[in-house]
Amino acid sequence: MSLQNKESFRIAGLSGTKSLRGSVAVSGAKNAVLPIMAGALLIPGKTILHNVPVIDDVSRISEILRGLGAEVSQEGTTLTIDASGVSNSDLNNDISKRLRASVILTGPLLARMGSVSFPHPGGCVLGARPIDLFLENFQKMGVTVSEEEGRYVLSVNGALKAADLFLRIPSVTVTEAMMMAAIAAKGTSVIKNAAMEPEIVDLAAFLTKAGAKVRGAGTPTIEVDGTGMLSSTSEPYTVMPDRIEAGSFLILGSLLAEEIEITNCNPLHLEIVIDMLKQSGVPIETTPTSIIVRKNGSKPFSSFNVKTHEYPGFPTDLQAPITVFLTQCEGEALVHETIFEARLNYTQDLVRMGANITMFDPHRVLVKGPTPLKGKELEGPDIRAGLAFVIAALAAEGESVLSNVQLIDRGYAKIDERLRSLGARITRSSVCE
Ligand code: EPU
Repeated sequence: MSLQNKESFRIAGLSGTKSLRGSVAVSGAKNAVLPIMAGALLIPGKTILHNVPVIDDVSRISEILRGLGAEVSQEGTTLTIDASGVSNSDLNNDISKRLRASVILTGPLLARMGSVSFPHPGGCVLGARPIDLFLENFQKMGVTVSEEEGRYVLSVNGALKAADLFLRIPSVTVTEAMMMAAIAAKGTSVIKNAAMEPEIVDLAAFLTKAGAKVRGAGTPTIEVDGTGMLSSTSEPYTVMPDRIEAGSFLILGSLLAEEIEITNCNPLHLEIVIDMLKQSGVPIETTPTSIIVRKNGSKPFSSFNVKTHEYPGFPTDLQAPITVFLTQCEGEALVHETIFEARLNYTQDLVRMGANITMFDPHRVLVKGPTPLKGKELEGPDIRAGLAFVIAALAAEGESVLSNVQLIDRGYAKIDERLRSLGARITRSSVCE
């Protein structure tokens, strides 16, 4: 049996004291860079990306791209991909099974190679996470789907067909995969009920810079003219800031900052979150690229209901951090998770910490506050709930030990170092098992 290096965080709670101070810069967006890396497969040449977060998910997609024949290297926040030599369209089994985002590669691989094979993509345990919408929309573009030895095998005879695609659910990665497949189709494809997340706008901007003809990204109807493969440009593309990371720092700051400035972000991507926190009593100021959050007087924050929704609604990826915030607000809050069916299970651990949370069904919990939280031993179940536990542990009284921090590292670069720079007492330790 091989030894596995497991890491954990030891976190000293601030007992609700608002003492964090300083400035923290937001990294490039995980959920923008992953589809953009997939989009680099449409460019048989070099792609240079700036503002790439140094996170495990980027390393994993890099590894898959290398397996396809691309050359990939990362130096700091600059990532270079040379996809000239791509000659294989079989996605690495082990990595794809562990990373849901690997499914985005299907679109550009069908466009470039006319085929792709992959296992059922894994990832965080948020619910069933089927891939039916990928398969049925590819089929409308002329793709045949079969299953061989536990892998999906997708192929197209000749060129992809331009199609009129209606997405039953405005899925983010389905929208991205279809947009990229349509680049190689003959004619104009239309994606209706498309997702409108800013990461889709960023992907479209990257593809457009390389010669794609994409209209309507950021609206529910996207049109793509088939142009064939795209061209390398010598100018690097700068990935958008991570709105979920910025939102997480904002929620942390709302609970525990004397004053923190969150830089390199776009507050317009967080309008609903900022609006709700302000309504609740958090003093927040914004500039076009930063957010400043300060402590309020002694008045407790007031509670509010949260219903997750596709953009520009409340992001499901901030549902866990905002639930931690609501445990410290006065009143009752209904948190309704509408996107994923298993994304509220972490609330059991908040209850162990002292929160008053009642689960009505897998989609809805009632949070009554404020209740002081106590440090505990915790294990992060997914990237976002893992970070929510860091926030809860910092707000709590006493020490917490959070294991499974590899999951947090998948989405947040050196989060412990950055929180320490704001005055948090958080240390990382390794245990070999
Ligand atoms: N869905 C289907 N069939 C499909 C595809 C999706 O039923 O073929 C359902 C999902 O099960 C879910 C709903 O559609 O109930 C919406 O999910 P979506 O497909 O939009 O999610 P995703 O594209 O898999 C991306 C982000 C997630 C984020 C969601 C929602 C990436 C790489 N991932 O996932 O990010 O939560 O959109 O905004 O962009 C994270 O970063 O921690 C994360 C989970």
